[in-house]
Amino acid sequence: MTTKEEQVIRVLISGAAGQVAYSLAGFIASGMAFGLKQPMILHLFDLPVETGKMEGLRMELIDSALPLLRDVIATSDPVVAFQDVSAAFLMGGKRRQPGMKRFELISNNSRILKDQGLCLDAFARKDCKVVVLVEPCNTMCYICAEHAPSIPRENFTTNARLDYNRAVGYIGYNLKIPATSIKNMIIWGNHSDSMHPDCSITSVIINNKSYRLSEYLGDEMASFRAQLSEAVIRRGADIIAARGVSSGWSAAKALCDQMRDWLTGTPQGVMVPMTVASDGSYGTPKEIFFTFPVEIQRGKWNIVKGIKIDEISRSKLDFSGKELLQEKMAVVAEIGDGYP
Ligand code: LMR
Repeated sequence: MTTKEEQVIRVLISGAAGQVAYSLAGFIASGMAFGLKQPMILHLFDLPVETGKMEGLRMELIDSALPLLRDVIATSDPVVAFQDVSAAFLMGGKRRQPGMKRFELISNNSRILKDQGLCLDAFARKDCKVVVLVEPCNTMCYICAEHAPSIPRENFTTNARLDYNRAVGYIGYNLKIPATSIKNMIIWGNHSDSMHPDCSITSVIINNKSYRLSEYLGDEMASFRAQLSEAVIRRGADIIAARGVSSGWSAAKALCDQMRDWLTGTPQGVMVPMTVASDGSYGTPKEIFFTFPVEIQRGKWNIVKGIKIDEISRSKLDFSGKELLQEKMAVVAEIGDGYP
């Protein structure tokens, strides 16, 4: 039986010569982000000095004989790169080196994201979905959205799924259960040391029986929760220390998971984290891009309301909110236009 294909879409990967793009391009063209019926043209975009690497990736993609891939355009011309794209994965920017904090990249990356926002505004489709993976990514997402006012703000997000996958991986590894047996892990806040990986309402299936993690772990829950949080917060830096470069394959996989759930939705009663423009939910400052638990239906996300915020969570959410406001002010100092 043949199944009907969707119309061909154009998908942009900026920072295409980088190591995340190297994995991401193949994942996307294999159907991991947009599904197995969605043909596409990939737009690879990077600086002229990176033409060789982009060209090599273009050749490898063609050589993979991927059924969904209809063309690959490798370019340093933003007009060509951003033209008519339905989705944009923005990864062009400086990445952190061993020992650095993500906010130290604000000065270098703010202008890049401002320019990319302007390009999206001018050339992309107005329903374009945008995922920013340039650090510090919540604030870079904010800058990008701010400079692309013709695209709805709810179409911008970051890669909070990476922190979620790390947390689910941690639980699965420690409890010896598959990732599919773990639901409702929450990530709150900024993608920084202030993030709050929160497993207080996470559920697990063990020997065919469903439990709240807290019920299953009993007295060990408090220390497990603290260790999980520390491990997830540290993981990006641990990978940089181990590899000398930041996460690649896992970041690309998380970008695909994020986009797939955004397009196809979450099952009833299941929440995933998503970094979105805050509406003030849970007492967070409005407008900053903050990671919340969301449910998604037909391409639209909604922040899950009514989750009980205990004392630990309250102080961590407040801390992350303050940090994001500070990052926003650092951007004002850096690019100084269009900001309060
Ligand atoms: C990550 O978490 O792996 C990325 O944000 C890269 C980094 O700087 O840690």
